Amino acid sequence: MPIQLDVQDATAAAIGDEHGLSQDALDNVLQRRVEVHSQIEAQRQAGKLGFLDLPDDEATVRAILSFADSVAGRFRNLVVLGIGGSALGPLVLHRALNHAEWNVMSDAERGGRPRFFLVDNVDPELLLGTLDVCPLSETLFVAVSKSGTTAETVAALRYVMPELKGRLGENWREHLVLITDPEKGWLRELVREHGLTGFPVPPNVGGRFSALSAVGLLPAALLGVNLLEVLAGADHARNLRKQDSHEQDWPYQLAAVHWLADTSKGKSVSVMMPYAQALKEFAEWYAQLWAESLGKSQDLDGTRLEDGRGQSVVKALGATDQHSQLQLLLEGPNRHLTTLLNVREMRRNAPVPAAESPAESIAYLDGHTFQAVLDAEFAGTRGALRHQRRPSVTLTLDRLSASELGELLMGYELATAVAGRLYHVDAFDQPAVELGKRLAKQILRGEEPRL
Ligand code: PA5
Repeated sequence: MPIQLDVQDATAAAIGDEHGLSQDALDNVLQRRVEVHSQIEAQRQAGKLGFLDLPDDEATVRAILSFADSVAGRFRNLVVLGIGGSALGPLVLHRALNHAEWNVMSDAERGGRPRFFLVDNVDPELLLGTLDVCPLSETLFVAVSKSGTTAETVAALRYVMPELKGRLGENWREHLVLITDPEKGWLRELVREHGLTGFPVPPNVGGRFSALSAVGLLPAALLGVNLLEVLAGADHARNLRKQDSHEQDWPYQLAAVHWLADTSKGKSVSVMMPYAQALKEFAEWYAQLWAESLGKSQDLDGTRLEDGRGQSVVKALGATDQHSQLQLLLEGPNRHLTTLLNVREMRRNAPVPAAESPAESIAYLDGHTFQAVLDAEFAGTRGALRHQRRPSVTLTLDRLSASELGELLMGYELATAVAGRLYHVDAFDQPAVELGKRLAKQILRGEEPRL
C-alpha cells in the first residue's frame, strides 16, 4: 500500500480552534491544488524542475548499474566526499535501506559490498580519521559536487588525489569517481584532464533535490540498493499530483497543512520525528530540503519580506527523543507542527523475553514484541500531543522498502515545490548561503572581510 497521510491531529476538530486548522481554511488551500500543480508543471515544462524527470533517466541508471557491476567485490570501502545535498542523498538511501551496523559486518555478510563513509565536513579530524581506517588500495572515493567548486569538497579532493597518485601509481584513477555538472566546474575539468569516471548531475536538478540522480543512486548501487525499486516508488509519488482528488495526493496535503499551520497558527517550527532508526538520517535530509528551500526573504515577485518566510526544522527520533525533546514539544511554546513517521511492519522484530526476575513495575512489557513497544510509544506520543493541543500529522509506511523510500523522497521534494508556491517564494535557490561563503573566501585570501 502506498504511503498514507493522516492530518486529523492538526485540525481544529482534534485540538481546538486556537491551534488547529479549520476545515474551511484547509478546504480553501486544497482547492488551490490544481492551480498550484499547473504552476509546477509549467516550471517543469520550462525545464526548471529536473528532479521530477529523474525517474525517466534510464541512460544514467544503466551507466550506474554497469559501473557498479564492473567494480563489484573490488573495494572494501566507499568514501563519499560531498556536503549538503551532495551528501545527504547517499546517506539517507544507505541508512534507510541497509543493515543498521553495515560497517562492522564482515565482508561476506555485506555480500562483498563496501563499507560506507561520508566526509561531509571540512573538519580535518573527519577526513584524516576516515583515511586512517580506509587503506587507499581498498577504497573507492566518490567526490560529489554539482558546482564542482564547493570549498569543503574541493579541499578534501585536493588532499585525496595526491595521496592516491603517490600510493597507487598509475592505478589511482580506478579509485576515484566524480559526480558533477556535465560541462563545467573544477571536478568536470578533472574528469576530462585525467580520463576519470564521471557521472552527471543534471544542471536543472538542485543539490537538495538530487538524491534520485547519480548523486544518491551511484553510491546506493555500490551498496546494493535496488535502484529500479527506488525509482518506481519515486515515479508513483510524482504521479500523485495527477490524481483527481487531493485524498491520494499526500505531498500536496502535507505542504498545505505545514504552510497553513505556519502562516495562520504560528507553527513556525516543523519537527520531523520518524519512529524508525533507519529513518534518522531522513530527518537530516528533510531539514536541509525544507529549510534551505523555503527560508527566504524575497517573494516570487521580487518583494522584500521583512520577517522572511519558511519554517525552522527540528530533527527528532522516536522513541529516543521521547527522553529528550518531547517534554518541550508537549509543554514548551506551542509553535511546533510535528510530523510522525510510522512504519507498519518493521523488517525485523523480536519478542521482549519474559523477565528473569519478574516485577510488577515492568510487567506491562510481557508478551509484546519490540515493534509492539515502539508502536505503543508512537501512539502514546501522538495521543499526548493531541491531548496537549499540539498539532501533528502522521505519515504511515507499510514497510521500509526501496520503493517506499523512493516514494518518500520524491513525495517530499514535490511537497517542497508545492510549499514554495504557497509561500510564494523560489524554493530552488539559496542566495543567502553565498554570503557566508564569500566572507570565508575573503578570509582565506587574507583580505579584510566585507559584504
Ligand atoms: O541544495 C544545495 O544546493 C546545496 O545544499 C548544495 O547541495 C551544497 O552546497 C553542495 O553544493 P555542491 O554540490 O555544488 O558541492
